[in-house]
Amino acid sequence: MDKLLINGQRKLRGHVKISGAKNAALPIFMASLLSSDKLELINAPELQDIKTTIKLLKVLGVVVSKKETSINFNASKVNNFDAPYELVKTMRASILVLGPLLARFGKARVSMPGGCAIGSRPVDIHIKGLEAMGAKIAINHGYIEASSSHLPNGRLHGAKIFMDQVTVTGTENLLMAAVLADGVTTLDNAAREPEVVDLGECLQKMGANIQGLGSDKITIKGVPSLQGASHKIMFDRIEAGTYMVAAAMTGGEITCQNVDPSKMESILQKLLESGAEITTKKNSITVRSNKKLNAVNITTAPYPGFPTDMQAQFMALNTFSNGVGEITENIFENRFMHVQELRRMGALIDIKHNTAIIRGGNLLEGAKVMATDLRASAGLVLAALVAKGDTQIDRIYHLDRGYEKLEEKFNQLGANIKRIYE
Ligand code: UD1
Repeated sequence: MDKLLINGQRKLRGHVKISGAKNAALPIFMASLLSSDKLELINAPELQDIKTTIKLLKVLGVVVSKKETSINFNASKVNNFDAPYELVKTMRASILVLGPLLARFGKARVSMPGGCAIGSRPVDIHIKGLEAMGAKIAINHGYIEASSSHLPNGRLHGAKIFMDQVTVTGTENLLMAAVLADGVTTLDNAAREPEVVDLGECLQKMGANIQGLGSDKITIKGVPSLQGASHKIMFDRIEAGTYMVAAAMTGGEITCQNVDPSKMESILQKLLESGAEITTKKNSITVRSNKKLNAVNITTAPYPGFPTDMQAQFMALNTFSNGVGEITENIFENRFMHVQELRRMGALIDIKHNTAIIRGGNLLEGAKVMATDLRASAGLVLAALVAKGDTQIDRIYHLDRGYEKLEEKFNQLGANIKRIYE
């Protein structure tokens, strides 16, 4: 397993081009299953999760071809409706084939998902929503088996669906099922994340009739079929946020390019509270700092609240700042696994239920640490960038799932990160 070796205490300066969003690319790739025409996608990041998604789509019979700046999908010859355990266990978002397969082909068999070990992460809301649209669903031998063959023309029907909890992939799965269903579907308490909106906009280009994207009530009028389209995947908010925190922590200045500041408000707000200076332009954000930061209090919440995927990065910032900061994690019950690793670097953190209390002002020291999930790993990288001496981060396959060219991008900004191949 590869490792990262990071020598800390360097100010980071320069420009970084932010990649396309993993969490927008994954559902949009799956949307290719909804049409027999070509779907052309631009700005997809090169990541392990993207490779896994392409592998999964190929297993189902989708023809995937890469060109210089785009990836083309053709799902005219889908001949398999099984998403196998071997692929799904490595990437929870594989569950996103369920809605499209069921909507277009009337059947799907998907292994119950695995993914990051950050909580129990059930899929009951996905299943309940599809059942409300008429699907018959059974769980057999660890697989979700879904069918709509008993319905008129084998088509799902529209339904009024209230989702008990805001779920991002749940909203995306039901949205993709509803675009080809017979009649009108309303998704209440829907996720408002920009990545859901990006998927919805791609579906609209394919001919879907969707209203209310970006609000908590999405209305979908099903159409008989969808056509081909070309779509540019939105920028990665979490990657951008991670570089912005790096600028603030290292006392440097980083400009993130290819971003939309209006989609980053909760993160920018917390950086301002910490004392960093921010300049925004239409497509860029510059973060700089030349003084000790203040610890900030954070409560994670669905969009437009503060994203759980930025929690570990701000935990790293708090360990290195003046004062005491509290971080309350409301989305996933097991998302403080980076705490014990940060403690090994000298961080002072107590946990009470779902709140971490971080006493800042302590000098962090390099140590051997282990990445435990994707965003926790990003928190460790940030801590290592300001720590005294060398930090070795083990199990970085988690980082490779979600950060494109991480060490290359950081090194261009002045960091000293080496990958140890094993
Ligand atoms: C997505 C993101 C992930 C992010 C998370 C929250 C992708 C590929 N992943 O994950 O990076 O951290 O949103 O912003 O987009 N829940 C249920 N039942 C369900 C579904 C969810 O109880 O059927 C719960 C979960 O356990 C969790 C909460 O709802 O407590 C939110 O999870 P959800 O939004 O579904 O996360 P993901 O879509 O898996």
